[in-house]
Amino acid sequence: MRIAVFAGDGIGPEVTAEAVRVLEALQIDGLELVEGDVGGAAYRKHGHPLPAATLEIARSSDAILFGAVGDFSLDHLERALRPEQAVLGLRKELGLFANLRPATVFKGLEDLSTLRPEVAGKIDLLIVRELNGDVYFGEKGTRTLEDGRRQGWDMMSYAEDEVRRIAHAGFKAAQGRCGKLCSVDKANVLETSQLWRDVVIEVSAEYPDVELTHMYVDNAAMQLVKNPGAFDVIVTGNLFGDILSDQASMCVGSIGLLASASLAEGTFGLYEPIHGSAPDIAGKGLANPMATILSAAMLLRHSFGLEAEAARIEAAVAAALADGIKGGDLGGSAGTKEIGDAVLARL
Ligand code: NAD
Ligand code: IPM
Ligand code: MN
Repeated sequence: MRIAVFAGDGIGPEVTAEAVRVLEALQIDGLELVEGDVGGAAYRKHGHPLPAATLEIARSSDAILFGAVGDFSLDHLERALRPEQAVLGLRKELGLFANLRPATVFKGLEDLSTLRPEVAGKIDLLIVRELNGDVYFGEKGTRTLEDGRRQGWDMMSYAEDEVRRIAHAGFKAAQGRCGKLCSVDKANVLETSQLWRDVVIEVSAEYPDVELTHMYVDNAAMQLVKNPGAFDVIVTGNLFGDILSDQASMCVGSIGLLASASLAEGTFGLYEPIHGSAPDIAGKGLANPMATILSAAMLLRHSFGLEAEAARIEAAVAAALADGIKGGDLGGSAGTKEIGDAVLARL
């Protein structure tokens, strides 16, 4: 059970260190951790955000625990060298097409949400976000038009096989939950979305036990705040899923709480908080490590089948929150290490 640990930039190393402490405290036989450089940190050291050596560590591991990448001072670089290419590259190179982003309100902790407790209390949803296609990976560029104006462009597309495999992931996830799948698209405007919807409907024939609905993304953004309890599983494209999951995090309480799994077929996966490198609070010991700690729990469950250990971590995080251990993101004053200590103490 070899875990590649890629801490990255900004608060990445701070939150990853706490998740590693939690993993080590479990004293799981045969668990081995191997570190690698990614993002801006890797660029500064090796001239590339995803060096070949890092990719090699990833390929020879059974799972990846990922912190965050992103460094505003490197945003002038050509796109291929920007820190974000590390996570985009790993997702693409390793075929991690299914991004699971659960958003569930902790029992008794409805008041963490910025929504009214009676609304927040019903939140138990899973966003299944496609991660290898969409406008993220199409051709892109900037050009100068004949009249001299500059134009930026990005090609949005989905091929039917790409939609089919994420649709299957969505339906299967719904089968394991409440049996409801909401496909979110923008088929009223985008051809990409119309094909998405057509293919999801085709795939639905194989899942008669799942109730399929469709929703436009603008309405979905509104419904997530109005009545988030109505959602079970949401399946959507790369860009819409990115945006809706940050929104869902606030419905639960904070972006510092939401974990994710990026999966290929099989048990291999990359696990990371949904948040970024948070340059505004980096290096100050203020970041909430709970999202990364909960990502480590997802790792143990999905890649190694260690359900009991995963549940122990989740219970320890919930207990710390219930005891009032809150980071600044939740209006509290606990620092990164203090939160890590609190989770460890309850493990
Ligand atoms: P961000 O998620 O880093 O931060 C958004 C806001 O949330 C900030 O105010 C930040 O302080 C706060 N925040 C985020 N995580 C927190 C935590 N654990 N505890 C407390 N507060 C937290 O998003 P951004 O500011 O838009 O982006 C910053 C950089 O991160 C950019 O370079 C971006 O490209 C990158 N990014 C990387 C990933 C990733 O590695 N997967 C994800 C998102 C953004
Ligand atoms: C995320 C991030 C990434 C994304 C960026 C850093 C490329 O926002 O993991 O949610 O857009 O997928
Ligand atoms: Mn994002």
